[in-house]
Amino acid sequence: MIKTNYKEALQDEVFRTIAEAAEALSLECYVIGGFVRDLLLERGIPKDIDIVAVGSGIDLAKKVASLTPGKPEVTVFKNFGTAMLKYKDKEVEFVGARKESYNRESRNPVVENGTLEDDQKRRDFTINALALSLNSNNFGLLVDPFQGVNDLKTKLIRTPLDPSITYSDDPLRMLRAIRFASQLNFIIEPRSLEAITENKDRIKIISNERIVDELNKIIMSEVPSVGFKLLHQTGLVGLILPELIALQGIEEVEGQRHKDNFWHTLEVVDNIAKATDNLWLRWAALLHDIGKAPTKKFDKKIGWTFHAHEFVGSKMVYKLFKRMHMPLNEKMKFVQKMVLMSSRPIVLSEDFVTDSAVRRLIFDAGDYVDDLMTLCEADITTKNPRKQKKYKNNFRLVRQKIEEVEARDHIRNFQPPVSGEEIMKTFGLPPSREIGMIKDAIKEAILEGEIPNEYEAAKAYMIQKAKAMGITK
Ligand code: CTP
Repeated sequence: MIKTNYKEALQDEVFRTIAEAAEALSLECYVIGGFVRDLLLERGIPKDIDIVAVGSGIDLAKKVASLTPGKPEVTVFKNFGTAMLKYKDKEVEFVGARKESYNRESRNPVVENGTLEDDQKRRDFTINALALSLNSNNFGLLVDPFQGVNDLKTKLIRTPLDPSITYSDDPLRMLRAIRFASQLNFIIEPRSLEAITENKDRIKIISNERIVDELNKIIMSEVPSVGFKLLHQTGLVGLILPELIALQGIEEVEGQRHKDNFWHTLEVVDNIAKATDNLWLRWAALLHDIGKAPTKKFDKKIGWTFHAHEFVGSKMVYKLFKRMHMPLNEKMKFVQKMVLMSSRPIVLSEDFVTDSAVRRLIFDAGDYVDDLMTLCEADITTKNPRKQKKYKNNFRLVRQKIEEVEARDHIRNFQPPVSGEEIMKTFGLPPSREIGMIKDAIKEAILEGEIPNEYEAAKAYMIQKAKAMGITK
């Protein structure tokens, strides 16, 4: 229920201290933005607090610090006229109320001091322009000149000003609108959606890091396709992730069609979102088919093929991460591995599942075998209930088999039972190609089930293999 006063929600001492500092400096100040929005939506108490002062935000931050036990450090961003400090576990950002207009020629903001309402007007959305007073005469009062509360109730993303002004002032807001729609399951007002479509090319001036921050939030929302459908509708997806849009469309040759892999991908992402909160596994779902666009071919005998699309896709993951300035570390390698292996359990489930095939799957996927199964299960998007049931059941059997084989053979973190050193020592050989061959042969024999994953058996096999190669002790 929305109230007009939120005094009780501002009982934390951080607000008392800010109010005291503002009073000492004789300036008005308010909590504004995401904190107020999330409080009213009952999304839990946010850790980030934005404060707007009618006066100098920097002076207010310094005063707050001087009144805080431990005197926290104040970080000042002079160019932006903002300051930040940590208050226990909370991060508090201070800004002076501004009447801001942009100089169209230089894009430098012309910053003038303004009233609270001037400041609210230049914020991105009405739901983010809500403010709570920290002033002694009306502490806790909700200040909402743009009907943000109404938009919260009707679940509407709307800009306080004409949307074309709000978005061209800061094109990142186009993505923020879509992100909030996806995160909160809100609708973007039609005029706003039109303005985003018209201004979409301006996304080019935004850094890839900031774009990825928003994409991550869309991917982490409960139903990510809400955001991706809006990215598609406005034309933004083609500018940000062209690899995805390349998957769109259905071709037909000689009466044979393939599925639309763009819409399929969105279904896969929604499916995986129900199963995991792992951001990178969700990214893997988003990118699992990207290799299908460049590998698509029509073969008269077998129809549509996407030969080696998993391998091509995994190479594209690296290029995409690099272009978007995403981490090129083990997270990227994980996504690559998932894409590369994305068809392996499918092939397995279509056939009689042999122990050795399962051992190879566990060996290749290592610790990520469960994630891989989660991805494959999410990949089932058939609308045919009989097929849906059959595929799910097949994967259930594969999972069961993985557990059985793993419990018996311990392949997951495979360490060769006989080390290269021991082979060298036994035969008095230096590091050489032969050592590698013997080591490999032992691994193959274990994966094929010829010998158990145990020391004695591996040692006996080593001697036998070496003998066959003409190597004796
Ligand atoms: N804001 C804006 N335009 C932007 C970014 C931010 O007008 N491009 C304003 C909004 O009023 C926003 C506030 O600054 O509420 C704080 O921004 P930020 O901390 O980035 O986002 P939140 O709204 O707090 O949401 P979240 O924490 O979910 O990112």
